[in-house]
Amino acid sequence: LAHFAARLEGRLPLVGIGGIASAQDALTKIEAGATAVQLYSALVYEGLSLGARIAQDLDAMMTQRGITNVLDLRGAKTKALAAPLD
Ligand SMILES: Cc1cc2nc3c(=O)[nH]c(=O)nc-3n(C[C@H](O)[C@H](O)[C@H](O)COP(=O)(O)O)c2cc1C
Repeated sequence: LAHFAARLEGRLPLVGIGGIASAQDALTKIEAGATAVQLYSALVYEGLSLGARIAQDLDAMMTQRGITNVLDLRGAKTKALAAPLD
């Protein structure tokens, strides 16, 4: 995802999918360049309240880092990958 995001440079929205069960998992996808995240399995195991919990925990993580806009996190880990692969 991070390599893809680095090469797209924001020209297309990317959805981070697979293995998301916590705010940390969502944060990892967002830092890798995801515009949105999607989850399924964890929702089945933990129930519909998981979405709200992830949003709340993500909010707390942002407060801890002094960030108010989630866009400030997006792609934070892609910059080092911006060099073309080919
Ligand atoms: C029971 C189940 C059914 C799914 N059905 C579809 C489907 O019909 N089409 C699709 O594109 N993805 C389908 N998916 C994939 C999910 O939409 C999603 O991409 C994936 O489960 C995300 O990873 P996660 O389960 O680790 O959160 C399904 C996943 C599960 C667990």
